[in-house]
Amino acid sequence: AETSSVRITCTAPVNIAIIKYWGKRDEELILPLNSSLSISLHQDQLKSTTTAVASPAFSEDKLWLNGQEKSVQESRLQALLHEVRRRAAKRPLEDVQREEEVVESVNSEHRLAPPSWHVHISSKNNFPTGAGLASSASGYACLAFTLAQLFGVRGELSGIARRGSGSACRSMYGGVVRWTHGEQADGADSIAVQVIPESYWPELRVFILVVSDLQKAVSSSEGMRRSVATSRLLQHRATVLVPELLRKAEAAVKAHDFPAFSQLAMCDSNQLHAICLDTHPPIFYLNDTSRQIMRLVHAYNQACAEIRAGYTFDAGPNAFVLTTARDASKLLGLIAHFFPPQTSNSKRYIRGLPLTTDPP
Ligand code: PMV
Repeated sequence: AETSSVRITCTAPVNIAIIKYWGKRDEELILPLNSSLSISLHQDQLKSTTTAVASPAFSEDKLWLNGQEKSVQESRLQALLHEVRRRAAKRPLEDVQREEEVVESVNSEHRLAPPSWHVHISSKNNFPTGAGLASSASGYACLAFTLAQLFGVRGELSGIARRGSGSACRSMYGGVVRWTHGEQADGADSIAVQVIPESYWPELRVFILVVSDLQKAVSSSEGMRRSVATSRLLQHRATVLVPELLRKAEAAVKAHDFPAFSQLAMCDSNQLHAICLDTHPPIFYLNDTSRQIMRLVHAYNQACAEIRAGYTFDAGPNAFVLTTARDASKLLGLIAHFFPPQTSNSKRYIRGLPLTTDPP
C-alpha cells in the first residue's frame, strides 16, 4: 500500500485586498455581495506550503497545521474536500485510466489519486498564523490547489478555494486579481481572475505592520453576517460604490498611477471600517495604533505634497502600508521611529503612540 501512495507539494501566496469583500449573499457557498480586487505577494515572501499524500492505506483524512494536528471536521474544510472529490469523480475517462496506473506503476510521471482515497495533509505558513495576516486565504488556496493536483481536478479551481474562505479564491493567482461576485445561484461564475500578471508593477512595496497578533474578537464571517443584517451603508456600497471603485482601481494599476491607486485603497479601507461602525452592534477592528499609522501616512503624504504612501486594513488592527521603491526606506525609517518594535512574550509588537502626539 505504501508504494501506491501519491504525494504533491504546492505553495500559494498571501493576497492583500485593495477593494474589499464584505458581505455574503450565500453563506453556504460563500458567494459575495460585491466583487473585490487584491494584489498577491511574491511567493518568496509570505506564503503557505501544503503537502498532501493520498494512500489506500489511510483510513481517514488527517490535517496538520504548522506541525500540529487539527480536526478535519471543520465545516469549511469539509466543504472544500467534498468539492474536490466531487469534481474528481467527474474526471474524463483518460484520467480514470491513468488512475489505474497509479496502483500499477509507482514511477509513473502522471500519478493521480482516486477520489476514494483518504488524504494526510500538512500545511505550513512562513509567517505567524492567526495573526490577522490573511493566513486563511493562502492556506485554503494552497489546499485547494494541492488537492486538485493530487486528485487530477482540472479547469477553474478558484471556486474550490472559495469554499474554504472567500478571500482564498484570490490567492489562486499572482499579480492583481479580481474576484467577480457572479450572478448564478450555484456560484459557478463567482470566480477569481488574474487581471494583471505578477510582473505588473515591480516598484510597488507593501509593509505589514503587526499591531496585535491576538485572535480578533469578531471573526470576518460573523462581522459580515452582522453588517448584512443591519447596515444600509453596506447595501449602498455593494451595489453602487464598489463597481466604481473597482473600475478606477484597475485603471490605476494598469497606468502605474500610485497616487490614484493608493487613494482608492485608503478610501475603500475606510469605507469598510465605516460600515463596521454602521453595523449594529458596531464592530471595532481598528485600534489607536491603527489610527496612528493612518495619521502617519497622511502626514507623510502631506509633507511630500503628493500621495506616496497608503494603507489598508482588513478585519483587524494590523496595517498594510503601500508605497513604491522610491519612498520605501524613508517610510520604513519613519515607521520604525514612531513604532519601534517591542519584545513581549517573545513576539514583536508595534508600540502605539499616545493619541496626543502628532507625527511630524
Ligand atoms: O475570506 P474571509 O472570510 O477571511 O474574509 C476576508 C474579508 C477581508 O479580509 C476584510 C476583505 C478581503 O477582501 O479580503
